[in-house]
Amino acid sequence: MSFSLAETIKRRQPDQFTLYGRHINPKLTRVLGIIGFDKIWVKGEGAYLWDANGERYLDLLAGYSTFNLGRDHPTVRRALEEALELQRPSLVKMDVPLLAGILAEQLVARMPPGLDAVFFANSGADAVDTALKFARAATGRPRVLYLDHAFHGLMLGTLSVNGGKQFRKGFGKLMPGFDKVPAGDTRALERELRKGNVAAIVVEPIQGKSVHVPADDYLPTVQRLCRAYGTVFVCDEVQVGMGRSGRFLCCEHWGLEPDIVTLAKSLGGGFVPSSAAIMRRSIHDKVYSRLDRCQVHSTTFGENELAMAAGLATLHVIDEERLVERAAVLGDQLLAGLRGLQDRHQMIADVRGKGLIVAVEFRPPRALALRAAWTAAEAAQKGLFAQFVVMALMRDHHMLTQVGGPDVNIIKLLPPLIIGEEEVDAIVAAFDAVLTEAASVRGSVWRQSGRLIKQALSQ
Ligand SMILES: Cc1ncc(COP(=O)(O)O)c(C=O)c1O
Repeated sequence: MSFSLAETIKRRQPDQFTLYGRHINPKLTRVLGIIGFDKIWVKGEGAYLWDANGERYLDLLAGYSTFNLGRDHPTVRRALEEALELQRPSLVKMDVPLLAGILAEQLVARMPPGLDAVFFANSGADAVDTALKFARAATGRPRVLYLDHAFHGLMLGTLSVNGGKQFRKGFGKLMPGFDKVPAGDTRALERELRKGNVAAIVVEPIQGKSVHVPADDYLPTVQRLCRAYGTVFVCDEVQVGMGRSGRFLCCEHWGLEPDIVTLAKSLGGGFVPSSAAIMRRSIHDKVYSRLDRCQVHSTTFGENELAMAAGLATLHVIDEERLVERAAVLGDQLLAGLRGLQDRHQMIADVRGKGLIVAVEFRPPRALALRAAWTAAEAAQKGLFAQFVVMALMRDHHMLTQVGGPDVNIIKLLPPLIIGEEEVDAIVAAFDAVLTEAASVRGSVWRQSGRLIKQALSQ
């Protein structure tokens, strides 16, 4: 009998949640049920997802920035089909792949001056791990600094530069000498750099978890201090790069010239895992320092033909559809629209972001009855109010969002860069409607709070 994916899906669709719970992650299966996210997704196209009932949902997570081009972009799909039709020989290994060379050339052309050597990997964590490892090789120093609230991935190396307790808890001692410095505090940073043993500092130009946008002078000062003390300055653009912030690289907002930039997520066009660390040749040369070390750092699937083809097609689409400019314009509209709600909705504490990475942060209500409901929810689990809003956006407005991180009352929006004014207006209208509901303890936003609080307390 021949294999048919369509037939397999049809036959096993009813078992989807049972299978996942039994063999993969029963806790996630349960959480999705509790918050009403236990949908059966059957199709994704552009900025939308469809469930098995034929209902359409606006995807405001975009696979955490993987779908900057939207889902199933025809140009990327066609490039992948062509790569298969051409029977391109992938991963020959003792080879220097043409498509890797072309993609490297095109990425370098989009980098700040001086970044001209590329290492291709598969995930964001791979790319960041590469950056940290290469910085240690280049400087001969052991230490790495990172900022509080930082998120650079969850493998052991990248977990060691994670600024949140929740992710680190339970995994034992992480990399020695990888130390946190307070974000925004250049004096504290200089105290560490002065010790002369810091290989690198890694920053997200806009922090993904909280959508923290730094003060305008912060990152330029970090860069200046790195130069002064011989420390490698790494900008992790895995989430905010590839146009999301309204510039191809987010660090361009401050005219930065980092020593290493990391990219991932939408580099694979939403089809193929792919990532890259793009660096100064001098750093790269310190790793691949002799002929017998020409493969001293590698990863099996790096430079694979499908990832390279998807990367080339993705850059083409970003240029052709002017997605960087589009992210800037629509991002401004989205920020303005959401900020316009602040006067009417006291629970919006802040709306911030750049381009199409936007956060809405909530604060306790002033009205007494509402405040009691908020306090009960927060006592059970921090950030539960934001979760209520996420649930209402899904239930009543068919919008997929998520709370920005553990213990925060923040909803982060990462729409595909292809959205239009219609979607921006719909997002603003949905927040307006949900927060109007939330202004009454009898409104639907609070209706399920008792059940959720009970679930949170019983964990
Ligand atoms: C800034 C940043 N760096 C690194 C990573 C890790 O990427 P991956 O999940 O592909 O390992 C992420 C993931 O969200 C990220 O946002």
